[in-house]
Order: sequence, then C-alpha cells, then structure tokens
Amino acid sequence: MPKTKKISSSKNKPWRKTVQKAMKKAAETEARQRFGGAEPLFDYRWEHVTAVVTLALKLAEQTGADVEVVEAAAWLHDIRKEAGPKHPQEGAKFAHQILPKTDFPQEKIGHVARCIRAHMGLWRRKPLKDLEAQVLWDADKLAKIGLTSLFHFMPVTIMRGNGRTTQKLIDDARANNKWMTKTVASMHTAPAQKAAKKRLKRFNKLLNRLEAELAGDDLLNLPG
Ligand SMILES: [Fe+2]
Ligand SMILES: [Fe+2]
Repeated sequence: MPKTKKISSSKNKPWRKTVQKAMKKAAETEARQRFGGAEPLFDYRWEHVTAVVTLALKLAEQTGADVEVVEAAAWLHDIRKEAGPKHPQEGAKFAHQILPKTDFPQEKIGHVARCIRAHMGLWRRKPLKDLEAQVLWDADKLAKIGLTSLFHFMPVTIMRGNGRTTQKLIDDARANNKWMTKTVASMHTAPAQKAAKKRLKRFNKLLNRLEAELAGDDLLNLPG
C-alpha cells in the first residue's frame, strides 16, 4: 500500500512556542551584534523580554486584561528592535505575519498588533486607553526601572568600554533618575504604579549605599 504523505497544517503550530523561538532568534542576533560578532557574554534583549512577559502576565491577572493578547504582545513587542524608533510598527507587522500561521485565536491578532504599536516611549503625556496596551506598556517600563535596570544595563554599559569607572557607572545610573521619575508617573495600572514607586526608591537607596561604601562612610559608625 502506498504511503500517504502526512500533511501538517501550518495553522497548528503552537503559538507560544513559535513566538518564543522567533524572539530568541532575534535576541541572539542582536546580542551577537552588540558583542561585535563574538560569543555574547550577556543577552540583554532576552533578559528584558522574558522579564516583560513575567510582569505582563502578573499584571494581566491582577487587572483582568486578556492574558493571551498580553502574553503574545509581550513576547513580540521588541522583535524588530533593529528598526529603531519604528520597531513598534515593524513588530506589529511581524505579529500579523507570524500569528496567523499558528493556533493563536485569529480574532485577537489585530489587538496584539495594536498593543505592540503603542508600547513606545519611556514616559507618556497622554495615557493609553486600551487595558491590554496599558498592561504591556507598564510591564515594559517596569522592566527598565529599579534594581532590574541596574543589573540589565550594567553589562551593556561596561561593554561600551571607554575606561568606565564605578563612579561613572553610578553617575550614569543617577542620570537615569530623571526619566525614571517620569516613567513612574506615567504608569497606567494600579499595581504597576505601586511597584514602580517602590522600584525607584530601591534603585536610589542602592546607589546611595554603593556611594557610601566607596567613600568608606560605613566605617564612621563602627562601635568602639
Ligand atoms: Fe520596545
Ligand atoms: Fe521592551
């Protein structure tokens, strides 16, 4: 009996695995470029995106946002980062290309793309109206502030070289305070507003403690 060729429908591709794989590939390409083609010591984009997914899922749970829309948008929001300021639009286009080939609910693809398109900017003058877009924006920005920002940005900053000193790194981190304050004020959802305030506080506390250690100020209050 002749063998029948197994026809697999591309529509059956599991969407989560598919978008994760696509994002991993994009992150690795970006990391290799950052390290001038050498084996990357740190994959900032992957660290950032996985943090955004975790935060977005928690926020979705707490705010009642559509979990599928939020998760797909979180995985794909920076997938076309190489497009610079146009990466939200390009990312939205990518979502329209990749998700129809998967088992993702087709009627939600437009919504995912709209969330990705709206995630730009470290702060906002006008708040976003759509709940899922708000959740993605908040999660993306939460992942850029607080202690996470120090640990995510430090390797990238050090890699730039130019005789970086610890004090210079602290100064740069302090300069970030300006936009972080605006970011905190731009958060949409109640849990993100609360967390953002705490993150900025911890960030400043850590920098103060680090400066105190470098200056030996912690030696002043030793007993006896
Ligand atoms: Fe982005
Ligand atoms: Fe991002």
